[in-house]
Amino acid sequence: MIVILDFGSQYSELIARRIRESKVFSEVLPHTTSLETLVTQYKATGIILSGGPSSVFAEDAPQCDPDIFRSGIPVLGICYGMQLMASMLGGEVKRSDSHEYGKANLYIDNNFDLFEGLWLEMAIWMSHGDSVMKMPPGFQRLGHTQNCPIASMGNTAAKLYGVQFHPEVAHTPKGTEVIQNFVYQICGCKPDWTPDAFIKTALAEIKETVGNSKVLCALSGGVDSTTVAALLKKAIGDRLTCVFIDQGFMRKGEAERIEKLFSGQFKIDLMYINAAERFYAKVKGVTDPEQKRKLIGEEFIRVFEEKAVELKSDYPFLAQGTLYPDIIESATVGVAKTAVKIKTHHNVGGLPEKMAFKIIEPLRKLFKDEVRKVGLELGVPEEIIYRQPFPGPGLAIRILGEVTEERVKILQDADVIVMDEIKAAGYYRKLWQSFAVLLPIKTVGVQGDNRTYLNTIALRAVTSEDAMTANWAHLPYELLEKISSRIINEVPQINRVVYDISSKPPSTIEWE
Ligand code: XMP
Repeated sequence: MIVILDFGSQYSELIARRIRESKVFSEVLPHTTSLETLVTQYKATGIILSGGPSSVFAEDAPQCDPDIFRSGIPVLGICYGMQLMASMLGGEVKRSDSHEYGKANLYIDNNFDLFEGLWLEMAIWMSHGDSVMKMPPGFQRLGHTQNCPIASMGNTAAKLYGVQFHPEVAHTPKGTEVIQNFVYQICGCKPDWTPDAFIKTALAEIKETVGNSKVLCALSGGVDSTTVAALLKKAIGDRLTCVFIDQGFMRKGEAERIEKLFSGQFKIDLMYINAAERFYAKVKGVTDPEQKRKLIGEEFIRVFEEKAVELKSDYPFLAQGTLYPDIIESATVGVAKTAVKIKTHHNVGGLPEKMAFKIIEPLRKLFKDEVRKVGLELGVPEEIIYRQPFPGPGLAIRILGEVTEERVKILQDADVIVMDEIKAAGYYRKLWQSFAVLLPIKTVGVQGDNRTYLNTIALRAVTSEDAMTANWAHLPYELLEKISSRIINEVPQINRVVYDISSKPPSTIEWE
């Protein structure tokens, strides 16, 4: 286990990912974590000090427990982490107001352990202001660049190392090798953290936590909650019950697909709650997007709560598909996050505390791509594993203006055409999302010899890494043409299809 102590770098998570891709388990913890906790609770075999926006000269410069450097556990400081190591161990850091940012060449002075097997010159990515000018006693220089005389340093006897550059980013092409040298050679870790190993540990943990009790699992039909359910089924068998709330805004055939998979293939006890009527009543006459989202979110919780109160005495545990990024976000002390609220996102993660279930979150240590690997290993169908994200409020936020049953039906019919054609053209997995939006405006058309005055569908297809930013997808004209003509021919209430060519920012992915 390699621990990354987070000093607020935007790359801390990425370091953990690189290590996990090397099949060694890694976690991001607050930089204030004490050596004792690292040893007893986390059994760390290596520690990485991340970069961060601070300067060691700042009054409130974040530090780590100084005992870490005397513990014998190997430490690698990256960027701010290296400067901190230098300044805490008696070296000198030069203050700088200017920033070195971008590509540079590293000249390796000593290619033993940290740089073993690498050429003497390699491309690296720099992003720093201050620099180490004098190394602490016992250290030697391992690399330099034209602008940075000490770009890497190491004390082999004490197993302490520092790099001024960022080995975790793609702009440092050989960076993973540097990280692996640290993890395998210096820390002595073995590459044995695989989906299979994760499942074994998770099953044992679930069995121990749950004992003979029963567990309730809120299903959304997405990859996270489905993988949780598959894992629990394997751990506790029939003592698992899944709850699926149909709010009436699902895709065409979605409810049936879920029922078939869970009751049919997985043989899981599925409690299917059809709450469509309640949800339609809630959003009747509502046109404001935020109000829609809030009402749907609240109603979802209310429906679940009612069911839960009924079941509570039988089911002390509630399982959720919380993932590692959610945990890091709430646990680490990174840069102050003062994000403005753009949209109210709700999912089954936001259930009220007063329900007093004991919560189990078996995927809380995993990133999304790791969940996919675990899901595949557990037999979750590829169709779910590689499903594009679908918002909690469903089609309701893809119908601009009032949501009615009739409009949901129109959008369902158009949506299924978009999905079929995108899949048939081989684009489904290449896109982050692709879907139809129903606009409340009518335009004039001509079909046969008749004038029509009908609604418009907007197509949305985007590529993205993480939904924080997105580009509109440059789909082939032939594909757009096919989708457009099928929708206009097959959905009687539509006579016009337009393609959304806005990226995020400044637009968002969903229209509401
Ligand atoms: P936006 O529209 O903000 O969406 O660019 C970013 C990503 O989040 C998804 N999304 C949601 N997911 N509950 C969810 O679980 C929600 O309420 C919700 N709203 C948006 C959206 O589909 C996109 O992938």
